Amino acid sequence: MDADRVKDHFDEEAPRYDDLIVRLIPGYREQHDVILGILPFDRESPLRVLDLGCGTGALSRLVLDAYPNARVEATDLATGMLAECAANLAGFGHRVSYRELDFGSGDLGSGYGLVLAGLSVHHIDDEAKRDLFRRVFDALRPGGMFVMREIVTADTPGQTEADRERWRAFMDESGEDGRRWYEQSLGEDHPASLTDQLEWLRDAGFAQVAAPWRRINFAVFGGVRP
Ligand SMILES: C[S@@+](CC[C@H](N)C(=O)[O-])C[C@H]1O[C@@H](n2cnc3c(N)ncnc32)[C@H](O)[C@@H]1O
Repeated sequence: MDADRVKDHFDEEAPRYDDLIVRLIPGYREQHDVILGILPFDRESPLRVLDLGCGTGALSRLVLDAYPNARVEATDLATGMLAECAANLAGFGHRVSYRELDFGSGDLGSGYGLVLAGLSVHHIDDEAKRDLFRRVFDALRPGGMFVMREIVTADTPGQTEADRERWRAFMDESGEDGRRWYEQSLGEDHPASLTDQLEWLRDAGFAQVAAPWRRINFAVFGGVRP
């Protein structure tokens, strides 16, 4: 899906996103505990955070709540999502700034201690993912961390298909039309295998590359800039 279609899609989805996403993504909230659990930073120390594809602000909020001296730059290409995010995070005042950004091509900035990307990187193709991983590496300070939660594929077509069946069943059980969302994802998304993405992170220079959580076709993974 090109950036304009992604933008239109998420602008339309913004008002109902928070209710919907927990029915579509296995372990959506559990992923938040995992992400907080792997962050190596002292809770009181200042932390500059970049949220790539912030959506309504779930990951930004997670860090703002847990790290009282964190400042977050929340970015998204969908202005409707940025507006929802700004409304949701208004209570954090000047600790959050908002920026319209296509992370596939735009300037990420530099000097961050933490870069987060939640369910956003699968919207760009694999070559663009590899390029993004290199640019995120450059945007981090030494010791900084990159954490994604993502839809991923498995290492064989058979396992990928089996995972997608289980994902459809999960959505059906949550009261959603699993087949519809699955077909939409097949048509629009560019998920890559977890194995490849861990390799691309290492290629970009990341150390401590790991995936501490995986369920069906979703994973939390990332690495540290040495
Ligand atoms: C499924 S939502 C995820 C929101 C939130 N990060 C979360 O974890 O729940 C994906 C978000 O990524 C944004 N997005 C997709 N492609 C993007 C790109 N190339 N640049 C910036 N944002 C992008 C979408 O507009 C959308 O708000």
